[in-house]
Amino acid sequence: MRFPERLTADAGLCEARLLAALAGRADQPVTEAMRYAVRGGKRLRGFLVLEGGRMLGVAEERAVSAAAAIEALHAYSLVHDDLPCMDDDDLRRGQPTVHKKWDEGTAVLAGDALQTLAFELLCDPALGSSDVRMELVSGLARASGIDGMVLGQALDIAAETAGRSLTLDEITALQAGKTGALIGFAAEAGALIAGADRAPLRRYAAALGLAFQIADDILDVTGDEAKTGKRLHKDAEAGKATFVSLLGLEGARARAAELVQEAEAALAGYGNAAANLIAAARFVIARDS
Ligand code: IPE
Ligand code: IPE
Ligand code: MG
Ligand code: MG
Ligand code: MG
Repeated sequence: MRFPERLTADAGLCEARLLAALAGRADQPVTEAMRYAVRGGKRLRGFLVLEGGRMLGVAEERAVSAAAAIEALHAYSLVHDDLPCMDDDDLRRGQPTVHKKWDEGTAVLAGDALQTLAFELLCDPALGSSDVRMELVSGLARASGIDGMVLGQALDIAAETAGRSLTLDEITALQAGKTGALIGFAAEAGALIAGADRAPLRRYAAALGLAFQIADDILDVTGDEAKTGKRLHKDAEAGKATFVSLLGLEGARARAAELVQEAEAALAGYGNAAANLIAAARFVIARDS
């Protein structure tokens, strides 16, 4: 199966695994909020886990709990990112944000529980030996915590009040945490499960993660709310430092295109087996949602 059909099929696998993991849990509003928060989205991170694994001979049944785990972690990051104390957004994936549909307390707790659900999923014996699962757990913890996503989000908040614009190096470091770390974990997870060399996928992910965030920043300026399913023009309103505010639209587009070339080059050694991952890199900068 070729991209984009593969992306759609993998999205279905991730969603099914997530809803199965949430079946039979406490009958509470927070559980319903968790189910709501994991629905929809492009599922790019889950696809990266499954396709990175496939490229290295890992069957999707073996990797699907890791794909669901990264999507649960990502969903938590979005629920908290949208809170009034963060980006204060009322629309996500075309639906009201969790704190709008329920309340702030429920949104905080749903995010907390999605985060712990991610680690529960990584303990699934289908993923491999206890050593493999331990590496997955510590890899996701590192990528999502104070060395990764949380650091990036903290730098993002700090930049709003810094009183000066960030340099390109500072924005790149902010992104590497905010978006890059989780994309990096997703792309390397398949190699970790396969017990294969992670370096090429790491290089691919470093370029892809940066290109992904540049595209997100471009969409905030030029996108269509009906397609992105989230509010736009928020970055400039909040005075956020982004690749677009620093490089301009054309400069940002050119940088994203260069990064896609880098991502492709990183996987050259895999030949045709890397075709879907290469197509994903092209999709990341051409997407409208
Ligand atoms: C949005 O991520 C938040 C960022 C990290 C920029 P996605 O664009 O992957 O969101 P979904 O999962 O498709 O909704
Ligand atoms: C969110 O970045 C990144 C994380 C949730 C870690 P943004 O704030 O730019 O994402 P959107 O634009 O709200 O999706
Ligand atoms: Mg944000
Ligand atoms: Mg946001
Ligand atoms: Mg954004």
